Amino acid sequence: MASTGERVLIAGASGDTGRELLSVLRPTDLTVRATTRSYATADALKRLGADEVVVADFFESADAVRAVEGCDVVYCALGTSPGPRHVLGGRLVDRTGAINLATAAVGESVDHFVLLSAIGVGTSKAGMSLAGRLLLRATLRAKRDAETALRRSGLGYTIFRPGRLTNATPTGEVVVGEGGDSVSGSIPRADVARVMAAAPFTPEARNRTFEIVSRDGLAGTPTNVVEVPWEFERVGVEHEREVRR
Ligand SMILES: NC(=O)c1ccc[n+]([C@@H]2O[C@H](COP(=O)([O-])OP(=O)(O)OC[C@H]3O[C@@H](n4cnc5c(N)ncnc54)[C@H](OP(=O)(O)O)[C@@H]3O)[C@@H](O)[C@H]2O)c1
Repeated sequence: MASTGERVLIAGASGDTGRELLSVLRPTDLTVRATTRSYATADALKRLGADEVVVADFFESADAVRAVEGCDVVYCALGTSPGPRHVLGGRLVDRTGAINLATAAVGESVDHFVLLSAIGVGTSKAGMSLAGRLLLRATLRAKRDAETALRRSGLGYTIFRPGRLTNATPTGEVVVGEGGDSVSGSIPRADVARVMAAAPFTPEARNRTFEIVSRDGLAGTPTNVVEVPWEFERVGVEHEREVRR
C-alpha cells in the first residue's frame, strides 16, 4: 500500500477525468506529477496545481519511462479523442500507451497502478448496449488488452470500468460491482476521480477490477455489488463530501 509523502503520476492529467484527479490529489501531501503531450497545456496543469509536469507521448516507450521515473503510484487516465479510430482501430493509446506505461512502471518498481478502463470491456460487455459496443469496438479491444497486460505485469493494480462519463458534480455515492456483469449506467468523472485517488491507499482494492456507476446513474438492476472500504480520508475526500452536504 502506498504511504505518506510519495510521488504519484497522473497520465492524461489534461483530460476531463485527469483534471478531476488532479483537483482531488493536489491538496494532499503527495507530490503530483501530471502529463500532457502539449507544452501549452503543461502551463495550464502547473496553474491547476501539479507539482511537476512532464510533456510525454505514451506511444513512445522512452517517454513512458521518463514520466514514471521516481513514482510510487501511476494513475492512467489516457483515452482516445472522439473519431473513427474507436471503430477502425490502428494504434490506440488505450492499448499501446497504457501498456508502455505499465512496462515502465514495472521497471521503476511502482507500488500501485490504477487503470481507467470502461464498462463494455471484456467480461463487462453486457453493461454496454450493442450499438455502443459496435461504435467503440476497437477501443474496447484495446482496453481489454491493456487490462490483461496489467494483470499479468506483476504490479499491484486496480482497474476501474466506469459507465458513461458525465461532467456533473460529484454525488459521493458510487455503486461498485465486480465480476463483469454487475452494474451499468453513468457516473460523473468527479466521482470516478475520487475512487481512483483512494485505490492505492485501500488494501482491499488491490489486484481487483471494478465496474462503477453513481447511484443516480444506475440503469437496470445491479448484481454482484461489493462494498469497498475506500480510504477516502487519506486523499481528503471525506472532508469535501461533508462540506458539500
Ligand atoms: N466518455 C465516456 O463516456 C467513457 C466511459 C467509460 C470510460 N471512458 C474512458 O475514460 C478515460 C478518460 O476519459 P476522458 O473523457 O476523461 O478523457 P479525455 O478528456 O479524452 O482525455 C484523454 C487524455 O489522454 C491523453 N492522451 C491521449 N493520447 C495520448 C498519447 N498518445 N500520449 C499521452 N497522452 C495522451 C490526453 O492528453 P493530451 O491531449 O493533453 O496530450 C488527455 O489527457 C478514457 O480512457 C475513456 O476511454 C470514457
